Amino acid sequence: MFQDLKLHHRDGFITTNIPALKDSKLRAALQRFLVLPLSKRMKYSQKKLEVAFDGYSYMGQTDSLNQYDSDLLHSFVLSDISDQENFPQPFQQYLSQEFPEQLLLIRELEKEILKRLGFSKFNIFYENHVSHMVSCNFYPELTNSVHNIELSERLSYHTDVSLFSIFLFGLESGFSYEKSSGDKVVLDSIDEVVLFPGHLMELMSNGKIKALNHGVVLPENRMEQRFSFAFFSLPKPQANMQFGSFKGSGKDYYKQYLNQF
Ligand SMILES: [Fe+2]
Repeated sequence: MFQDLKLHHRDGFITTNIPALKDSKLRAALQRFLVLPLSKRMKYSQKKLEVAFDGYSYMGQTDSLNQYDSDLLHSFVLSDISDQENFPQPFQQYLSQEFPEQLLLIRELEKEILKRLGFSKFNIFYENHVSHMVSCNFYPELTNSVHNIELSERLSYHTDVSLFSIFLFGLESGFSYEKSSGDKVVLDSIDEVVLFPGHLMELMSNGKIKALNHGVVLPENRMEQRFSFAFFSLPKPQANMQFGSFKGSGKDYYKQYLNQF
């Protein structure tokens, strides 16, 4: 399936020659969700859903698992861990029509990447214990109230919980990552599938492959909105894991990851 796949390693950040897929259905779904009244959106908050990282986190929220209160975005996490009917109506069409096929593609791609990185030995764990989520992120335009706050980033620097984080729809400009030298690079938009390793890859490879530290910088034009859709491979909550000094369930692994922050 990926005989012609070319991976280009840019100091932890990996580009491919796979043309980006269209995000139109998922983008429209996220937009339809975000215009619902707050009371409706909060029925699907991360806290209410209580499954992995699934659900809604809003801008300014102080108790989100996956963003700081200073991060300038709304996010909705979908996954193949929760049952589809637990997600709100605006996402249903995407979940039925595109999500399963996209996850199949991601699974094939990730297995091929593991092979090329010399980690085919993880295939059995991957097949049995790895599931996926997609974090749908919307960064609204920066209003006057936000202008007055001293901010340096749109999304603060962090590493992801994932084995890999995959941008199936490419990237909008503003993504930034830290090279091994400590220098930070800010990327322009990219129209191919791109990816990078997360905390799980670092754990499983015993530190040989480092999780990429990354964030999103403020745009020059403060009125510019931004969308991003990141697919994460992560252990199922019930997964049995033993890698290096870590032994526990998938849920224990999420806790260990979150303890860094
Ligand atoms: Fe991230």
